[in-house]
Amino acid sequence: MKRKPVMAGNWKMNKNNSEAVNLAQQLCYKVEPEWGREVDVVLCPPAVDIKSVCNVIAFDKAPMSVGAQNVHWEESGAYTGEISVGMIKEAGCKYCIIGHSERREMFGETDEDVNRKAKALIAAGLTPIICCGETLETRDAGLTNSFVCNQIVKALAGIAASDVERVVIAYEPIWAIGTGRVPTPEAADEVCAAIRSTIAQLFGQRAADQIRILYGGSMKPENAKFFLPMPNIDGGLIGGASLKADSFAALVQACL
Ligand code: PGA
Repeated sequence: MKRKPVMAGNWKMNKNNSEAVNLAQQLCYKVEPEWGREVDVVLCPPAVDIKSVCNVIAFDKAPMSVGAQNVHWEESGAYTGEISVGMIKEAGCKYCIIGHSERREMFGETDEDVNRKAKALIAAGLTPIICCGETLETRDAGLTNSFVCNQIVKALAGIAASDVERVVIAYEPIWAIGTGRVPTPEAADEVCAAIRSTIAQLFGQRAADQIRILYGGSMKPENAKFFLPMPNIDGGLIGGASLKADSFAALVQACL
């Protein structure tokens, strides 16, 4: 089953506005218009840069979309510091990362929060990029697949199979994020396969065949060529290597 790969850059809390605009402009130059037919390219800048990055992409008619790194599930109200789905949509986002391990570990985001965020995004027509992944302790205890699949079961609870199809999942072993350590491509693919078979059990084979599952965690142009051909890996969620136009463009090109 051929799925269109996704290459998403998670800029995290990096780049001020002029640096964000500059990186987006460089990517517009490096990412060829026809690549958009083969790969969905997503830039996830800090929230205050979303609109500027969207403007750069629109001006250049570049084959790239923009995503937020977080969102709140309520439409509006007394939620100091939060941003709604309507707000990121109006700013130009088509995607939103949710459940990143940094948000789970540092900001207390729970599986239930991830589920609420996924539902709110889907209701507004945006695509959630749902992150999951195990700690080193969980891996060493041999519990990776059950832990990760349980995160996904909870994230997708109550969502219709027809909506699950267009969700994106990012499998990111926590011990691989920003560390330079990576699982073998086979080990990463095994977890992605377990996620896919969980989706098949819960939502049917069609949803399992359609859903894109990305690998994330120290993916670079040098190792992407080993991960991307794996049967259950449909692209990457990239942190460090998305902050330079050359390396991110090379990662996009590696999906062609
Ligand atoms: P990394 O981050 O590529 O820097 O390891 C990936 C992520 O956190 O999404």
